[in-house]
Amino acid sequence: MIRLQRQLGESYTDASIQELDARIGVARERLGDSLLILGHHYQRDEVMKWADSRGDSLALSRFAAASTTAKYIVFCGVHFMAEAADIITRPDQQVILPDLNAGCSMADMADTEDVELAWEEFSRVTDIEKFVPITYINSAASLKNFVGRRGGSVCTSSNARAVLSWALEPPDRGDSSKKVLFVPDQHLGRNTAFQLGYKAKDMALYDPRLDNGGLDEQTIKESTVLLWKGYCSVHQRFTVDQVKSFRDLHPDGIVVVHPECPHEVVELADAVGSTDFIIKTIDQAPEGTDIAVGTEIHLVNRLANEHPDKKVVSLDPLVCPCSTMFRIDPPHLCWVLEGLVEGEVRNRITVEEDVAEGARLALDRMLSIS
Ligand code: 13P
Ligand code: SF4
Repeated sequence: MIRLQRQLGESYTDASIQELDARIGVARERLGDSLLILGHHYQRDEVMKWADSRGDSLALSRFAAASTTAKYIVFCGVHFMAEAADIITRPDQQVILPDLNAGCSMADMADTEDVELAWEEFSRVTDIEKFVPITYINSAASLKNFVGRRGGSVCTSSNARAVLSWALEPPDRGDSSKKVLFVPDQHLGRNTAFQLGYKAKDMALYDPRLDNGGLDEQTIKESTVLLWKGYCSVHQRFTVDQVKSFRDLHPDGIVVVHPECPHEVVELADAVGSTDFIIKTIDQAPEGTDIAVGTEIHLVNRLANEHPDKKVVSLDPLVCPCSTMFRIDPPHLCWVLEGLVEGEVRNRITVEEDVAEGARLALDRMLSIS
């Protein structure tokens, strides 16, 4: 979704990185404890160095929820993360996204009205009471609201297993009559369902561009996990051939990937998990290990620099950055901070209370499950 980010003036666009650094430093100092800067692991280094707390999506929601002194939370990440922070923080706390165009193409693949339509289609052919909706945190607040009001939960890549397990009775705990609609990332949903012991036959892919999602009545009735046909364009690029090429060159090396990667890639990897998990895995790998990482390139490059004793490379030699995370840059960070110093809140992200109420239910459920 395109949001309108105001063009910055020349005092930001023409400033050198040294000048911007100095100005960001001054503004930060002046704002003191009233300011909390959060940074997602995919942020570029020039921005990340200013973050008071870094984390994956789950950790960042927890930091936002736990912040007591901060009046302003500047979220160096993407729009859905800032929305989630606004929902779980106090009304007197203001969440700011330095560039309004920092969205997430995957979140945009699940339009709330399309999900409502799918829900109606399911209710025509099955007992809808048996369905639990789960939305990945990478989704709009309106979708979280829909999910929360129907007894469902949000999940992140670090707690998807716990949340799916909460929603269903996995096969190893006996047969369940429950079903899940998992939006918007088919890969995270599929990878997690496989982890819990479900088979391909238990899952079906719902394509919102087709009538009834392209599924017949029987498939909807018989599937346990209905996966929304969404994906991350950064992670869907990783392939089995890339894993094989790396293993040919480094037979003792390890492959660590994010669960937004396709299942065939996840199956071949040595370790799979959220961005926090990837960081911990590399921290703990023995010196000298060759490690191929299947995630966004700014995190991979940071890990390579932080671990000169290990050889950390991207699994994809033609690396692909997350173009929306990349929109947050020093000029925009400086612009929002200087605005705060001047008493002007720029780019505040707010979620209407009627939407926030349901979305909060879904987020709180996630936080209590994990
Ligand atoms: P994490 O929760 O693992 O940080 O993932 C967020 C994300 O958008 C990955 O593409
Ligand atoms: Fe969205 Fe993919 Fe970017 Fe994560 S990496 S924010 S899922 S587009």
